[in-house]
Amino acid sequence: MKRNPSPGSRPPEALVQIMAQRHGLDISAYEASFLRQARDRRCAETGSQTAEAYGDCLAGSRAEAEAFYQSLHVGYSEFFRNPITFALLEQQVLPALSAATGPARRSELRVWSAGCAAGHEAWSVAILLAELAGTRADPGPFRIIATDISAPALAAARLGVYDQAAVQNVRLKHLRDYFSVAGASYTVAPRLRALVDFSSYDLLDERSVCPPVSLYGDFDLILCCNVLFYYRAEIRQRILDKVCAALAPGGYFVTGEAEREIVARREELRALAPPAAVFQKQKHNHGLPGCHGYEKSKWDRFRPPSLSVPSVSSVVKTL
Ligand SMILES: C[S@@+](CC[C@H](N)C(=O)[O-])C[C@H]1O[C@@H](n2cnc3c(N)ncnc32)[C@H](O)[C@@H]1O
Repeated sequence: MKRNPSPGSRPPEALVQIMAQRHGLDISAYEASFLRQARDRRCAETGSQTAEAYGDCLAGSRAEAEAFYQSLHVGYSEFFRNPITFALLEQQVLPALSAATGPARRSELRVWSAGCAAGHEAWSVAILLAELAGTRADPGPFRIIATDISAPALAAARLGVYDQAAVQNVRLKHLRDYFSVAGASYTVAPRLRALVDFSSYDLLDERSVCPPVSLYGDFDLILCCNVLFYYRAEIRQRILDKVCAALAPGGYFVTGEAEREIVARREELRALAPPAAVFQKQKHNHGLPGCHGYEKSKWDRFRPPSLSVPSVSSVVKTL
């Protein structure tokens, strides 16, 4: 028998309705348990005694609707957040990609940090690529595009100033080479800034397969970490459809440790070295599910020469 929710414990669907009908804000994509947690946090912060009372507060206040909506964009991040993943990137994935880039090979190495929050992940990849470029005689150009839906997160990413907790996994050498330190604050060095392009992009945007700033997708590496688990199962798959369509054949996909199992079920993505949450897109995946639903644009079929990307060699010379 279906149980009715007890009085005072409005189900998350009630929040979805209030947000849509009273405030025109669509939160239907989020997972029920995530909405419940967000509601409980806001309950405590607004001093609402019950979920029912919080629902009334939400219905009557535009400011609270905005606060609740913003609270759904959890922005926690760290540099080199998952050490196993970054070790695999450093030792295997990026050297392989870098070896395939350069004169007479692929024109540029293309990376997308999707759901980049305040930039930690994108800067971490930039550090590894800059280090790698320093070890190669003819490093090809690379391009790191970092996107998020949250304007405050993007503003913080562009600012590039972090506290000690955020950089706890950064090696001392990297701290010295890529940051300036003032007291307990760490600012990303200008030479690293030239490597990352931050812009706004909603992963649920159905009109596009990749951020407009990237022009044509075809990424060699996409990181979408700690984003999927906020969403309902079918929305997660929609995001993964998008990622698969934007990945070049043989390209790599990185997700959060807790999201590994969601991705492991995708036929077109092969786990690289379990238990790391790093996958590789199969080279021949025509006909496999997942990459449909997006028009393959003419850009998908060829890779134009590199655009106005800083050449790694020129960046490394300044390091
Ligand atoms: C917890 S942070 C993860 C940051 C980083 N990827 C990491 O793993 O440390 C999740 C980020 O995903 C962003 N996000 C959530 N939904 C999104 C969407 N539909 N499109 C783009 N970004 C989204 C949030 O704004 C937030 O900054």
